[in-house]
Amino acid sequence: MTTDTITKATAAAPTGEPVLDARGVTMRFGGLTAVRSVDLTVRSGEIVGLIGPNGAGKTTFFNCLTGLYIPTEGEVRYKGTILPPKSFKVTAAGIARTFQNIRLFSNMTVLENVLVGRHTRTKEGLWSALLRGPGFHKAEAASRERAMELLEFVGLAGKAEHLSRNLPYGEQRKLEIARALASEPGLLLLDEPTAGMNPQETRATEELVFAIRDMGIAVLVIEHDMRFIMNLCDRVAVLVQGEKLIEGDSATVQNDERVIAAYLGEPFEGAPGEEEAAEVAQAEAAAATATEPETETEASPAGATDGATDEATDAPAAETGADETGADETEADDAGDGDGTDDAPAAPRADAPEATDDGDDDTAQASGTRKEND
Ligand SMILES: Nc1ncnc2c1ncn2[C@@H]1O[C@H](COP(=O)(O)OP(=O)(O)OP(=O)(O)O)[C@@H](O)[C@H]1O
Ligand SMILES: [Mg+2]
Repeated sequence: MTTDTITKATAAAPTGEPVLDARGVTMRFGGLTAVRSVDLTVRSGEIVGLIGPNGAGKTTFFNCLTGLYIPTEGEVRYKGTILPPKSFKVTAAGIARTFQNIRLFSNMTVLENVLVGRHTRTKEGLWSALLRGPGFHKAEAASRERAMELLEFVGLAGKAEHLSRNLPYGEQRKLEIARALASEPGLLLLDEPTAGMNPQETRATEELVFAIRDMGIAVLVIEHDMRFIMNLCDRVAVLVQGEKLIEGDSATVQNDERVIAAYLGEPFEGAPGEEEAAEVAQAEAAAATATEPETETEASPAGATDGATDEATDAPAAETGADETGADETEADDAGDGDGTDDAPAAPRADAPEATDDGDDDTAQASGTRKEND
């Protein structure tokens, strides 16, 4: 209750200059348009939510913002400057992120994982590191001090020397946040920060995000937990089939019948992807009739308007889990995102590794295990 009051009060904080300005961002993978002409602005002092059904393109959009993908069309500006298409440069510019699939160096300690995230903020070069002169030691001490502060901030200082793989799931997510913060960002992107968390952990994460905003860092957060999003965000944008359906305050978004329909899988007039879905349904129905006339039950697949609709809408979820997961995993150095490791420039990375990791996100969350990355 108390927390509700606090969070609602802080959520009304005033907003300022644009920190992130994405214009007409489109991302195509072959014939699939995962993100279609999306505009989104995040201002300083804001917490903005990005929601949408599974497979809507949320993670892909994040990947376009952080240099993992080069958008097919559109441009992304951070504090007025067009971002370079490389992850480590984006991180250096001031955007940090966490991943839908936790990505930590499992055999490194908690503290070391955060130190990796300091990479883009340390000036010591190769020679300094090799010679280990006074400059290097001074910089290292400062980095450790800052990393410990951040661990304190997320509540993990007591576990600084633990191996990250031994942390419970919820704490691994917090560690990812600490590592992202280590790059001293002006904007933090969180991809499903509470996935797999229990209600207490979710509530704690909510408070953590408010505290991050209060530190002067704007936040853009993807989440499926509507209570979390609606309580936290000043503004919410809804993606459906790659298109921004609506953007507004939580009340506006919650009460919009198109949003409700999108989540329930009910078709509505002019829905993004409606035409394509109808074409697919038609083609599938035709194919089913031609090849297996006896299996009538399958003749009303996808776009159907009956009960099958829900399932049709849900279908992408499973697929996406896979793809999207892969998208993240691509960054073998995703630590890199926080850490500045160079994610190969890459035209849209159709990264093969993705397929490998598929679905692990869900699996990891369900089982309390996680994907290892190093
Ligand atoms: N690298 C890729 N190559 C081909 N298709 C991809 C790639 N990455 C994502 N996609 C496809 O783009 C669409 C959007 O996926 P994305 O992961 O962005 O969705 P999402 O909104 O994050 O979903 P979820 O809520 O399940 O995480 C999906 O159809 C997915 O299969
Ligand atoms: Mg996603």
